[in-house]
Amino acid sequence: MENFEFHNPTKILFGKGQVSNLKKEIPAYGKRILLLYGGGSIKKIGLYDKVISELKEIGTHIIELGGVEPNPRLTTVNQGISLIRENQLDFILAVGGGSVIDCAKAIAAGVPYDGDVWDIVTGKAKASSNSVPIGTVITIAGTGSEMNGNSVITNWETNTKAFFNSNHVLPRFSILDPEITFSVPLDQTIYGTVDIMAHIFEQYFHASSNAPLQEKIGEAILRTVIETAPKLVNDLNNYEYREVMLLNGTLALNGLTGMGVSPDWATHLIEHAVSAVHDIPHGGGIAIIAPHWMEHVAATRPEKVAQLGVRVFDLDRTGKTDAQLAAEAIQSLRKFWTSIGAPTKLSDYGIDDKEIELMTERSMLADQIGNYVPLTKEDVRKILRNSL
Ligand code: NZQ
Ligand code: ZN
Repeated sequence: MENFEFHNPTKILFGKGQVSNLKKEIPAYGKRILLLYGGGSIKKIGLYDKVISELKEIGTHIIELGGVEPNPRLTTVNQGISLIRENQLDFILAVGGGSVIDCAKAIAAGVPYDGDVWDIVTGKAKASSNSVPIGTVITIAGTGSEMNGNSVITNWETNTKAFFNSNHVLPRFSILDPEITFSVPLDQTIYGTVDIMAHIFEQYFHASSNAPLQEKIGEAILRTVIETAPKLVNDLNNYEYREVMLLNGTLALNGLTGMGVSPDWATHLIEHAVSAVHDIPHGGGIAIIAPHWMEHVAATRPEKVAQLGVRVFDLDRTGKTDAQLAAEAIQSLRKFWTSIGAPTKLSDYGIDDKEIELMTERSMLADQIGNYVPLTKEDVRKILRNSL
């Protein structure tokens, strides 16, 4: 293992009716609030009304910013920063999915920063301890944004999707009520499932040695997802399936399985580039790219893919080489994702080879990306071509 620091103070309030704790949690941070939400799903399911009534009970002054896009945009982040500065707000309440929460984090970090918030998103400047505090009500299982310091933002003008990570934007609290996720449509439920699994893969395929516990925790999360998702996609209003999936999503990317290892993240960098150019759902892009990435790494390092096959997909190791097991593991992954209805080709989203060069370019944050098997530009181009 490598040396590591782990600091995750986000308070999780999990279960039915936890929204009623907003009035208990918020007063510690102030009375002037930016209420941030997405395209309207929270209004349809009655969550908006509940949140407003909670906030009114404690006499808060509310300024609203709705319409945060899936793949949230820099322009919306800047709108939020202006609203907080003009109205001298103390706190951001993000009610929504990963997009709304990521947008809240970038706003939070941008408010005390004198320059362009894009500097923080792209790592040219750091988020400070003066970042505005955030609380969240998560409405969809997947990203883990409710309990991590990541924020992924798209600059649509330059077709760039970038991310930053800072403990200063970790949510102070997050409310996770599985009932709120009942209304997540089938396609988004599938994308969330894929995303949770991919977060484990990114940390499981690490470039470090001796992380057996972290890997076994990851395998347990993967096995739980594989057990639950097929039942959930046929029964979207099932509380038990929804609660298991919600917890899976949070634990898959809250630092637990990434302790002491250098994670990979190449699949995510490639997907972010695809989304930055074509604005497709994150989990959909991951479902297409991850198996091709896995095939690429299995060609030179099949042993970990083989381990995944044996421990997660219950493959029988007897008489097989790692390369054979790895091929079977990838087949099992494809079969599982197809069985729950995940997309398999970029052309499913109408994407052809026209923008391959731009997507390749945008994936390459450095000369090589990824840690388990570092990828060159040529490798990324090949993975994207195979994904068409
Ligand atoms: O906008 P609304 O109307 O709320 O609808 C959303 C949106 O259309 C809908 N939705 C969410 N909860 C719902 C619901 N519809 C009905 N009922 C509910 N309860 O679902 C759609 C997708 O929402 P979004 O927030 O975009 O999804 P997700 O949580 O998958 O977030 C995706 C974003 O997170 C980033 C992705 O790149 C993408 O920008 N990621 C963030 C990460 C992080 N912070 O750690 C890690 C991830 O790897 C990922 O990159
Ligand atoms: Zn993801």
